[in-house]
Amino acid sequence: MTEVNVKKGLDGVVVDETTISKVMPEINSLVYRGYPVQDLAENCNFEEVTYLLWNGDLPNKTQLEEFSKAERGLRPISANLKSMITSLNKKCHPMDSIRTAVSYLGAEDSNHWDNEPGEKKQRALNLLAKIPTMIAADFRTKKGQDIIDPDPSLGFSENFFKMCFGEVPAPEVVKAFDVSLILYAEHSFNASTFTTRVITSTMSDIYSAVVGGIGALKGPLHGGANEQVMHMMKEIDNPAKAEEWMLTALKEKRKIMGFGHRVYKKGDSRVPTMKKYAQKMADVTGQSKWMQMYDGLEKIMVAEKNIHPNLDFPAGPAYYMMGFEIDFFTPVFVMSRITGWSAHIIEQAENNRLIRPLSAYNGQGERTVKPLAERG
Ligand code: COA
Repeated sequence: MTEVNVKKGLDGVVVDETTISKVMPEINSLVYRGYPVQDLAENCNFEEVTYLLWNGDLPNKTQLEEFSKAERGLRPISANLKSMITSLNKKCHPMDSIRTAVSYLGAEDSNHWDNEPGEKKQRALNLLAKIPTMIAADFRTKKGQDIIDPDPSLGFSENFFKMCFGEVPAPEVVKAFDVSLILYAEHSFNASTFTTRVITSTMSDIYSAVVGGIGALKGPLHGGANEQVMHMMKEIDNPAKAEEWMLTALKEKRKIMGFGHRVYKKGDSRVPTMKKYAQKMADVTGQSKWMQMYDGLEKIMVAEKNIHPNLDFPAGPAYYMMGFEIDFFTPVFVMSRITGWSAHIIEQAENNRLIRPLSAYNGQGERTVKPLAERG
């Protein structure tokens, strides 16, 4: 066999160009369309950042009002989709629910083959508006509660809280949630985004691409890590035990969820902002133990392995303190990342070339097929 240099996991491989975001691990920075993500998180809301990702620039007041009005108008889902969600196995993971619900939404859209960029943007807006409604419907159904319809008088994040819990929490909680959505929105060619680009490259439709993205995001090495972080923290339970727990876990060569990153090796650019807002949640709710545990775990991991927390590490306890069930953390990631996925789907479609890499075959040499009767 000819020697080929296989880049397992496409590690370090540049597969295309993009104008959407840039990850700069050497200076610990991430920009969306040129703006540092931490500045966007502090100064904008999630709707403004979505507009930026889809249109290339931040909206002015009129543009934001129009965008927000359109999003609010698209939030309701059909009665059929509601009953599909309530008919799902109550024990299925909410990521399976949202994956199925997006697929169902695609089946409701009989014109989804339209491949014009404007059509895709309209469908992206429809997905952005309806995904929270679908997640909240599943959240309430799984708790045996009635579904709460979206409220067009509320902003994106406020409305989600209302649909899940029946009320809008304190502004600090809404802001922390909104910040998490901004930080989760986009991250270049991560596994789920690349999945959506691969599917789009076959000229398939946006719903199929998003369903594929949700499947990729579900895995614990990607978006599913935010849930695993909280399971781990609950397993440790006592902050005083965090350091010892980590030392034992490392000795046992366990994979520690919420640590490490394929691109960032000196720390994740989004973590300081999310940690600050997770700490605010601890202050608001009085649940100080999770952030104490955070510090203990981080201290040992950095000292022993020089591996730093990624965004899922502070996001997990922040969502927990906001009152979300653990298995809804990754669906919340979906309602944010739909923005990045859609931007990439549109970018891929506008300058498309079928994504079809090669493999290095190292299986059996060529052999002869024997008739069935002659096989031992
Ligand atoms: N816990 C324990 N060890 C870890 C680790 C973690 N979270 N992340 C990386 N390492 C170790 C690896 O075991 C490897 O050690 P070795 O050289 O002794 O074999 C070394 O660090 C290099 O890691 P590698 O597997 O090459 O990094 P990667 O780029 O393939 O992995 C992740 C990136 C994200 C898959 C990995 O860090 C991970 O699994 N993290 C936990 C899941 C997670 O939080 N995912 C969300 C990512 S945003």
